[in-house]
Amino acid sequence: NGRGLLKGKKVLITAGGTREAIDPVRYIGNYSSGKMGYAIARAALREGAMVHLISTNPPLPHPEGADMEYVSSAVEMKQAVDRQYDTSDVVVMAAAVADYRPAAVADQKIKKETMTSPDLKLTLNPDILLGLGERKQNQVLVGFAAETNDVIAHGREKLVRKNLDLLVANDVSSPESGFHVDENQVSLLTPDGHVSSYPRMAKEDIGTLIIEKIASIMK
Ligand code: C5P
Repeated sequence: NGRGLLKGKKVLITAGGTREAIDPVRYIGNYSSGKMGYAIARAALREGAMVHLISTNPPLPHPEGADMEYVSSAVEMKQAVDRQYDTSDVVVMAAAVADYRPAAVADQKIKKETMTSPDLKLTLNPDILLGLGERKQNQVLVGFAAETNDVIAHGREKLVRKNLDLLVANDVSSPESGFHVDENQVSLLTPDGHVSSYPRMAKEDIGTLIIEKIASIMK
């Protein structure tokens, strides 16, 4: 029951936390549930958008009408995002992308008996969103910043450095908002310096808020 705010627009959304393989049975991950990205996908669909959702979380219910793609690691997510970028009008990077991955992935399960040292060597992952910002054409580019302190200042820095049109700054310091739960507390930052801070509310409603903000930016 939207107002057709994004009718005919292609919206690319990423959701969930990436998993960085150590060996065939182990990975490094994070606590992202994917709920925020899925709520944004549903809000975009209600406004008539064509939604391509790149997700790491198969257990969440598939938003009806979204074109789904499942990935696991940051490198896979980057390949999937890059394939869709040029044809997208809006990109929302709601995924929690791991900053590092194991430098080498073992083909066989690592046995504790054969491990000479428990040190895990890591290597830096590509920053997907930074790359999108560098080669932005007409896309509206939206990023997230999950912070525990100085939320607005860190968000502002990311908005500028990654060349974004909207940054959703997310306070994850409280157990009632942020990771895994159904509520969140966000501020929306735009390049004109404007900050809109909202009280803690349902992620579903924040999804609507973000999509309405994106629609107003596109006008
Ligand atoms: O720099 P930071 O990780 O806090 O930035 C968060 C934003 O950047 C999120 O929108 C996230 O999806 C995106 N990101 C990314 N690739 C990374 C790390 C973060 O696209 N390797």
